[in-house]
Amino acid sequence: MKLRSIFNFVLILFIAGQSLFAQHIGIIPQPQEVTVFKDSLVVGKVLNLSANEEVGIATIQYLRHALADKYQIYSTINKDKEVQISFGQLKLTKEVHEEEYELTISNNRITIVAGHPHGYFNGVNSLLQLMAFYETPTGIKIPNLKIVDSPAYGWRGFMLDESRHFFGKKKVKQLLDWMAFYKLNKFHWHLTDEPAWRIEIKQYPFLALVGGIGSYTNPLSPTQYYTQEEIREIVAYATERFIDVIPEIDMPGHATAANRAYPQFSGGGTKDHPDFTFHPAKEGTYQYLTNILKETNVLFPSNMLHLGGDEVSFGSEAWNADASIQKMKLRYNYRTNKEVETHFMRRMADSVYHIGAKLVVWDEMADAGLPKDKTIQYWWRHDKIAQLELALENGYATVVCPRIPFYFDFVQDEKDRHGRKWGRVFNPLESVYNYDLDPLKAKEQYPNQILGVQANLWTEGISTIDKLDYMIFPRIAALAETAWTKNDRKNFTEFQQVLKKHLQLYKTDRIYYYDPFNKTLSEPQVEILTKKYLDNPE
Ligand code: ACM
Repeated sequence: MKLRSIFNFVLILFIAGQSLFAQHIGIIPQPQEVTVFKDSLVVGKVLNLSANEEVGIATIQYLRHALADKYQIYSTINKDKEVQISFGQLKLTKEVHEEEYELTISNNRITIVAGHPHGYFNGVNSLLQLMAFYETPTGIKIPNLKIVDSPAYGWRGFMLDESRHFFGKKKVKQLLDWMAFYKLNKFHWHLTDEPAWRIEIKQYPFLALVGGIGSYTNPLSPTQYYTQEEIREIVAYATERFIDVIPEIDMPGHATAANRAYPQFSGGGTKDHPDFTFHPAKEGTYQYLTNILKETNVLFPSNMLHLGGDEVSFGSEAWNADASIQKMKLRYNYRTNKEVETHFMRRMADSVYHIGAKLVVWDEMADAGLPKDKTIQYWWRHDKIAQLELALENGYATVVCPRIPFYFDFVQDEKDRHGRKWGRVFNPLESVYNYDLDPLKAKEQYPNQILGVQANLWTEGISTIDKLDYMIFPRIAALAETAWTKNDRKNFTEFQQVLKKHLQLYKTDRIYYYDPFNKTLSEPQVEILTKKYLDNPE
């Protein structure tokens, strides 16, 4: 051992002895292993990069743009010059996880090594986080350190509902930027529901043109939807950031906007939820929806289609008065509407499998008999933990996203008035941070079946961009650490210290965040809801 290494080793022991080892290094989510050394690196104003091909040009450009935009550091890629940031191949005897990376900061060099492109990208984001955390008015000075990191969970998701209110390309891209910064990797896009349909389908143009009219607060607002061109652009943007985009085309319920455009496929609804369902007894319905899914799937390289399957009972009472559905029940010997619903979902699941995609559904489908190797379940009903148990027992890979604490339409401050609470229950930052993703303690019984976690933002009560920001930030940071960092590396007090710096980053990005420390920004005032959420208990 060289003298310097011995010195560093002793320093590590010294730091460990002071129990600073678990201290947050300034990166959210906190990496799994961090070793801090004595000196620091002063980041210069020109950085020369060297990289192997596997890193990918998109990741290199992502880094170069971030350096230029945020720090006015104009980087070069010049083989003949001294290198300050180098990317290299991780050589390990064990198999390297695709998201794993090592980041080393020494006196004069930053090194990121990984075994796969996604690992390099994660390393780059850790570096950008360090730069943000250690930036001062006189420059950026990062402690010498070594990080060895990989995620606790592979599914780290966020869902945005753009049916109730439409926010548009610019906002979605900004959200994807923050997701990437926090190493979130699944964007679930809820594009169809009661108020509006938001995705262009060329074979059925009225879906967007007619179905896109209106929002939750204004049923007559001019049509708003994403053209296929725009969807391609957003998906490419996400893909460069290693984020899979999963579209949701909700069925057989939540189909109101589609039924406005093509009423011949409506299965009816109730007084409060008219035309809520697709028609389960018409052969044409299955062909129509399969055509829609085929067109949709081409736009999304994730090759995952979310078909919803939730809350069908809010409209399926109408099926009792429909002669052709009653005939269908007799034919198949079904007694309940739930059996018809299952029939519908099995048929549409078949279409998804024929398309070659993976099916994603809400937990109402945990007992629908869908093939377990081709289906992912989302457990959302926190008050029905039996549904999670059922999904796991039935062998499904499952994403944990219980309303409490992962529905971000619940307020995060007891005093806030514009948002959901169930009784006195709401979703503060700390609940998001401290949630144990194995609520049944079933990890050993069902190894690898819990894929990870997702936060869902329903937007009935979110009619402005400020309100949207206010509900997402900073809970998105807590979500990221819950998803990525192993429990024994987490510490809410230390997380909050780093978060204080992140609030400044939100401000620079013109985000109207909720400030859990000083309440500097007041709750945005939004239109008062006239209707209730479907799943409210009272
Ligand atoms: C849901 O909240 N209806 C999945």
